Amino acid sequence: MSDAQKYVLAVDQGTTSSRAIVFNHSGEIVSVGQLEHEQIFPKAGWVEHDPKEIWDNTREAVAQALSKASLNSSSLAAVGITNQRETTVVWDKNTGEPVYNAIVWQDTRTDKIVKELGGSEGDDKYKSRVGLPLATYFSGPKIKWILDNVEGARAKAEAGDLLFGNTDAWLLWNMTGGVDGGVHATDVTNASRTMLMDLETLSWAEDIAADMGIPTSMLPEIRSSSEVYGNGRQQGLLTDVPISGILGDQQAATFGQACFEVGMAKNTYGTGNFMLLNTGTEPVQSENGLLTTVCYKIGDQKAVYALEGSIAVTGSLIQWLRDNLGIIGSAPEVEDLAKSVDDNGGAYFVPAFSGLFAPHWRSDARGAVVGLTRFVNKGHIARAALEATAFQTREVNDAMNADSGVNLTELKVDGGMVANETLMQFQADILNVDVVKPVVAETTALGAAYAAGIAVGFWEGEQDVIDNWAEDKRWTPSMDDAERDRLFRQWNKAVTKTLDWVDDDVESA
Ligand SMILES: Nc1ncnc2c1ncn2[C@@H]1O[C@H](COP(=O)(O)OP(=O)(O)OP(=O)(O)O)[C@@H](O)[C@H]1O
Ligand SMILES: [Mg+2]
Repeated sequence: MSDAQKYVLAVDQGTTSSRAIVFNHSGEIVSVGQLEHEQIFPKAGWVEHDPKEIWDNTREAVAQALSKASLNSSSLAAVGITNQRETTVVWDKNTGEPVYNAIVWQDTRTDKIVKELGGSEGDDKYKSRVGLPLATYFSGPKIKWILDNVEGARAKAEAGDLLFGNTDAWLLWNMTGGVDGGVHATDVTNASRTMLMDLETLSWAEDIAADMGIPTSMLPEIRSSSEVYGNGRQQGLLTDVPISGILGDQQAATFGQACFEVGMAKNTYGTGNFMLLNTGTEPVQSENGLLTTVCYKIGDQKAVYALEGSIAVTGSLIQWLRDNLGIIGSAPEVEDLAKSVDDNGGAYFVPAFSGLFAPHWRSDARGAVVGLTRFVNKGHIARAALEATAFQTREVNDAMNADSGVNLTELKVDGGMVANETLMQFQADILNVDVVKPVVAETTALGAAYAAGIAVGFWEGEQDVIDNWAEDKRWTPSMDDAERDRLFRQWNKAVTKTLDWVDDDVESA
């Protein structure tokens, strides 16, 4: 590596936007490019993205980040990719055209497919092998839906003309040449979200793919999270730069938060919330509604696993208050509105918009606001929406404590919602542990940058990540026990009101 190659660029292809961030050797942000993409809601419960828009936005974000820092690709030692997980793209390898929009992780259209797959064995049919319950969340059933419903898709797939990827693989293939020799690969963390990868062997479970009618020729090669997959071949943009790190967004944040020891955990507050607990080099099965997933794998080293609590709706509830109710003009305004009242006024908001994920896994649930009286105003609703994030996190945290047998002593946090001081204080109060935020809150991109930089020797290994991590702010619990217990008891009661809502004759609702 020459001295001129002083930076690593990470592409963070998220649910709401695509970002490109340039980091220096100290793990500090040098520049950022970012573009939002359209959220497409064709029917109740359906959520799609346009893969071409995502690819265009990614290129534009990279160009923005490089130009803001007056850099070109020759200054980059490596590129890392991190991405919204599970979101499913199927494209034609001969034309590079997607055969359908990307089906997003929150989409519930595969409800019936999932029930049929479970049959008499139920939701846990594949759990001991793939770490996941049958749920609409994961990629495999979304691929099946595309092959079943897009005209001509199954024949093309069987002829070997179609490729599947989460958005990491879609971007990698395009960055490395697309129809002209693009590399079709993914990393173990993304593969572990498809329901199609055996957690022990880290290879595709061909019998599960066969159950779902998915030809294995569509599936990307499974590689580690930190190795050179290929070189950028986009004219003038990332030409010849090694692409050498891929991690699903939540695993990337865990890496960027330096959770390298067994028992270390982080919680990311973005569109949804995702808490991951490092469980070491053996997969641990959850007894309490958590997922078993691959946390990262550096080159030839052993894979490290995690238990994960996935919450579908947290930050997106704030977007819903803004876009669907119009009671705030921007996400940060929710804090002022929440502070206009002293407490939730008895109102609880359970945002089961995509059913309930961890620890309940109830696709038959739908959202509810309960405890309403004439007293409740929009300030209370804003407060209840923020509190929902903290209560859901408490549920997941309790499951993690139960599975691991040890109580977390503090929680490392990151993501867009941690800017909200009212929420973070309430979070510390409801968990009764300290909540700690690092200086670089963009831990998702940072983790992918580290994975890429470690693969090419720009950083030596995990110790650099640990050395570069620095605490920015800490929130300490100040609520009394009786109040905490009362609030959480009421929340649990509110959750019961959302269950068993979807009837079979309500299409995709
Ligand atoms: N001050 C705030 N208070 C509450 N919520 C906020 C605040 N600022 C941002 N948010 C919420 O945080 C989310 C954005 O966080 P972040 O940027 O981490 O998400 P993201 O990485 O873009 O998500 P994804 O990766 O899923 O696209 C939005 O859903 C937004 O509603
Ligand atoms: Mg994100």
